[in-house]
Amino acid sequence: MKSKLEDKFKEQYLKEADAVYFTPGRVNLIGEHIDYNGGLVMPCAVTLGTWLAIAPNSDGKFKFKSLNFEAETAVESNQKHEKDGSLWANYPIGIINEIINDGKEISGLDFLYSGNIPIGSGLSSSASIEIVTAFALNDYFNLGYDKLELVKMAKRVENDFIGLNSGIMDQFAVAFGEKDKAIVLDCETLKYKMVDVDLGNYVLAIINTKKPRELADSKYNERVEECQTALKLLNEEIQLHNLCELTAEKFALHSHLITDETILNRATHVVKENDRVHLAAKALNAGELKEFGRLMYASHQSLKDLYEVSGIELDTVVEFCSGYEHVIGARMTGAGFGGCAIALLEKGFEEDFAKHLTDYYVHKIGYPAEIYVSDIGNGPVKL
Ligand code: GLA
Repeated sequence: MKSKLEDKFKEQYLKEADAVYFTPGRVNLIGEHIDYNGGLVMPCAVTLGTWLAIAPNSDGKFKFKSLNFEAETAVESNQKHEKDGSLWANYPIGIINEIINDGKEISGLDFLYSGNIPIGSGLSSSASIEIVTAFALNDYFNLGYDKLELVKMAKRVENDFIGLNSGIMDQFAVAFGEKDKAIVLDCETLKYKMVDVDLGNYVLAIINTKKPRELADSKYNERVEECQTALKLLNEEIQLHNLCELTAEKFALHSHLITDETILNRATHVVKENDRVHLAAKALNAGELKEFGRLMYASHQSLKDLYEVSGIELDTVVEFCSGYEHVIGARMTGAGFGGCAIALLEKGFEEDFAKHLTDYYVHKIGYPAEIYVSDIGNGPVKL
């Protein structure tokens, strides 16, 4: 990918690239819709990701091109910029605004991006493009940010510039990912542990439903608000900073304060999903993959019934998996409303699984899903 990108850079900008960077995408193994509720999540970086080639220019502009999108744009390098509709380059422009806001000096650059994360698939293509930009600028101009500062900067872009009230998981996962390890991250304290992922006789399959995520952002923000409503109601009796401070037992004592069934369901998912992550971390450490798989199925069920962020496409994948004897666990991953599911699949059955799942999925949904077997990869690097 590096040399192809360098060739394309030369073709497009008529000069050599000066540096090339990579940042991965992520899957979340378990702990969904938990990060903005201050609980535990367990994501890992994948080997799919975003590559970025850069070189300086003398016209004082930041120029953005991508091999994945036709639209290109250029902005002045010495001032902040407004969001430009739904343009892909809003992500790097948001990062540049943050750096300028911080009073740092950065000067004209040509950017060429190329990625192989399917866009809108829930594998964090946006966090990947944000972090690859922030990482590259930090390195190239010696800005002196540490990795956590880059993560927080990218989250601010997502929240304040793009307008998605997301938590910190995606940016953290793509920045801190390590090969063959999952990150057990406490989203309240930002303390984390890297946990070995030894899948033994299993592989991690990613199934892209290819369902377009219509209205995903507004439904996502709606879930965030529903959790805030639950928190407000519970705080009439107890003092909580976030929903994930509650154990299931403590929640049962106070849940009568929430009379609206939808809000109660949302809060119930959050409290129980957070518990599942604790159990899943223990299961992974003890090599109890079947227990891990059971927790994945339970997580999916809760996201479907209580949190209502799944959908017929994701449910069809998980339903197939639960009836297929060589899968021990499956669930949707990421925000939901389409996007990807993950499954723990017995080695040697990759082709059989793909064939049977494809038949099942096409029969129900009308078009095929995309199936990959993924390795757990590293975080950002200069290549
Ligand atoms: C999206 C958000 C994350 C997280 C997940 C759901 O990926 O960007 O912050 O909330 O959804 O777990």
